[in-house]
Amino acid sequence: MNESMTDVRDRVRTIFEPDAIQRRVQQLGEEIGAYYAGRNDLLILGTLKGSFMFMADLVRHVTIPHEMDFVGAASYGKSKTSSGHVRLFYDPVTTMSSRPVLLLEDIVDTGHTLQNLVHLLQTREPASLDICTLLHKRKSHLDLEPRFVGFDAPDEFLVGYGLDYAEQYRYLPFVGSLKDG
Ligand code: IMP
Ligand code: MG
Repeated sequence: MNESMTDVRDRVRTIFEPDAIQRRVQQLGEEIGAYYAGRNDLLILGTLKGSFMFMADLVRHVTIPHEMDFVGAASYGKSKTSSGHVRLFYDPVTTMSSRPVLLLEDIVDTGHTLQNLVHLLQTREPASLDICTLLHKRKSHLDLEPRFVGFDAPDEFLVGYGLDYAEQYRYLPFVGSLKDG
């Protein structure tokens, strides 16, 4: 059943307003441009589907030439080290070998998917691999901690700005917590 926008506002408690997100994303883009300054072979790799909106806003503020692609990963194991527990439903065609790769995540929760994905991407032998996440719940222990973090997030189920609950709410321009009931 479809919900009207008014119903959505009743169901979702706003945590990060659109203006705050846009300001932080601009800062991150500028930091990333400065960090990779002098390189023109940067690849920004967004995780599907959650990072699509973050990617679109961020790249407008990355002031150096770069390429972009996406990666779609589904994790079906909880191993912290194995690369055998992640299945790619979209495997980027772009070459990663010998170039700096920045992996864009929407949110780090348990970190299981990211941990497995990082191990898999390392086998592609990028010159460097770093992580930028919009939101970090700070409860995971990753081998590779994100170099760039948008916001520390509460340990609640968040939706909007790309994040979904059962494929709903991705289109919202803000991030909020889904209310119970
Ligand atoms: P993780 O492996 O637990 O860190 O999370 C894997 C994926 O689940 C993330 O990349 C998100 O796409 C999704 N996810 C985790 N936490 C949330 C949340 O609070 N809201 C919506 N999606 C989430
Ligand atoms: Mg999801």
